[in-house]
Amino acid sequence: MKIIAFTGAGISAESGIPTFRGKDGLWKKFRAEELATPEAFFRDPKLVWEWYDWRRQLIAKAEPNEGHKILAKMEEEFPDFYVITQNVDGLHQRAGSKKVIELHGNIWKVRCVECGHETYDYRAPLPEIPPKCEKCGGLLRPGVVWFGESLPLDALEEAFRLSREADVFVVIGTSGVVYPAAQLPYEAKEHGAEVIEVNPDETPISRIADKIYREKASTGLKKVYQYIKERYGSKG
Ligand code: APR
Repeated sequence: MKIIAFTGAGISAESGIPTFRGKDGLWKKFRAEELATPEAFFRDPKLVWEWYDWRRQLIAKAEPNEGHKILAKMEEEFPDFYVITQNVDGLHQRAGSKKVIELHGNIWKVRCVECGHETYDYRAPLPEIPPKCEKCGGLLRPGVVWFGESLPLDALEEAFRLSREADVFVVIGTSGVVYPAAQLPYEAKEHGAEVIEVNPDETPISRIADKIYREKASTGLKKVYQYIKERYGSKG
């Protein structure tokens, strides 16, 4: 019994990390085009790094919440359970999830635009902005996917494969408007999965959901966990 949890920024909202498109969302204060694109970065690497350094400091102070922890518990309980996330905050891993596919990279990853050297740098704040490559001294960029960039191919292929094989596909805290990630719930549905949505607001995915928990992640996931155990048994 394959269970997939597909997550967006909403699952980290209760950890104090602003979402992108909500009423207090990041894109309300900043314009995505001015920050999360290769053009913006090469035009003004310092400005873009100031934004990421601010987000990294916020995330460093945040803790995984009940929603992340329930997904980590489900991974222990159900042998064929995976998290596919659009988030770059690494909170699923900090909550104990091991089988996590990061579609949009990870905010703690840095990559040299000159030599391609990639590593994790957990310093928050960064000592130097923009940071330089430890190997060649070149300019480092955040190891995340920006608008207009392609997603890591291996992660994307695995995410589509798992979604097509899913028996239960739980969608948590995403507005479902950014592709290709937003295509995954439809892939799962088309291949016979039961689609469950956990989100206080309606989204385009609500239309194809077999079950909807119109509430925040921590509350909704407690009920989803019970529902799956009752419906499919604890070995899933
Ligand atoms: N619990 C569950 N869902 C919540 C909560 C909560 N406590 N608070 C807000 N939400 C929901 C909102 O209703 C919204 O539907 O989370 C969703 C967040 O949507 P977005 O801010 O659009 O975030 P996301 O869907 O993850 O964005 C996708 O867009 O900017 C890019 O790369 C970035 O990965 C991101 C992608």
